[in-house]
Amino acid sequence: MSSKLLRMAVTTAAALALVSAAPATADRTPAATTTAHGGDNFTIVGHRGASGYRPEHTLASYELAARMGADYVEPDLVTTKDGVLVTRHEPEISGTTDVADHPEFAGRKTTKSLDGVATTGWFTEDFTLSELKTLRAKERIPAIRQHNTIYDGRYAVPTFQEVVDLVKRLSRELHRDIGIYPETKHPTYFRKQGLALEPKLVDALNRNGLNRSGAKVYVQSFEVTNLIELHRKLRVPLVQLTSATGAPFDFVDAGDPRTYADIVSAAGLRDVARYAAGVGPDKNQVIPRDPAGFLLAPTTLVRDAHRAGLTVHPYTFRAENSFLPADFRSSALPAEYGDLFAEIAAFRATGIDGLFTDNTDIAVAQEQLAHR
Ligand code: G3P
Ligand code: CA
Repeated sequence: MSSKLLRMAVTTAAALALVSAAPATADRTPAATTTAHGGDNFTIVGHRGASGYRPEHTLASYELAARMGADYVEPDLVTTKDGVLVTRHEPEISGTTDVADHPEFAGRKTTKSLDGVATTGWFTEDFTLSELKTLRAKERIPAIRQHNTIYDGRYAVPTFQEVVDLVKRLSRELHRDIGIYPETKHPTYFRKQGLALEPKLVDALNRNGLNRSGAKVYVQSFEVTNLIELHRKLRVPLVQLTSATGAPFDFVDAGDPRTYADIVSAAGLRDVARYAAGVGPDKNQVIPRDPAGFLLAPTTLVRDAHRAGLTVHPYTFRAENSFLPADFRSSALPAEYGDLFAEIAAFRATGIDGLFTDNTDIAVAQEQLAHR
């Protein structure tokens, strides 16, 4: 190991040493509340809202997911130039807003290195909130989700506060505690620009009375360092996201050689349990596919995570053939629906504790059928 790598490993070990050795679930489990689907020990997360039916990360998308029965709605968080948390899947917004149609912002188009990838477009951190509010959301994958395009141009980019307010209002109306499952997007990228997401998120949760044991909140990240930091500041459970390939960007940036594959090893998961209550793996890390796209035997991830005291919420369950294993596709047409019920059943059989889905209604129906 080079001296730089050794330094990084020591630094991370020191950070972990500051984390309580007790499992991070102790006293952080969200209060058990009634679900809309009867599977009270199973968590359905409306991924980017109900993004199978509305442009993602709009209030309309979150509201629909809650009304369909999601236990949690999932806002991905980035920040504006003036430091306001807003909900987008990535800082570059040409794929999900009409920014390219605004001539007044043509000069903002630029190329940046986003986690080491040269990315051209418009970036939230170059817009004030009032500027961003002049944009309208659009469907990310119109070729797959043509129906959703009828909503293009109709909804603004929400702030995190607006999502919290929506969730509170819907919880009162639906007589059910709707949870919120925010993800810090590209934490190292934003921190390097002097726009760290974590203090803003901690402040927002504090201001809204959501930084407490029993609050129906999970906080997630694909990076590790910021979750370890958040573990010291938050009283809500944290979820370590993992990808099927690659490594957390904070590790890459620091020269730490560990990968997501290391994190989902049995030993890696025991380390995760020192600061997080759960893992959010790519579903292919739970049941891999063969080269033709058919499901193989499940991995040991769920068993190893449970042994470490971690819950498992894999992502992302979607109804279109394009995203389904070959076992459950209805045809060769990517936009047609296949059998998401069957896919969820196959993953439920591995012992997962919940899932992220673009199609909350189908996941809810699957649970209701299973609990009849
Ligand atoms: O946060 C769970 C899942 O949403 C992670 O993937 O890329 O959709 O944010 P992504
Ligand atoms: Ca996410």
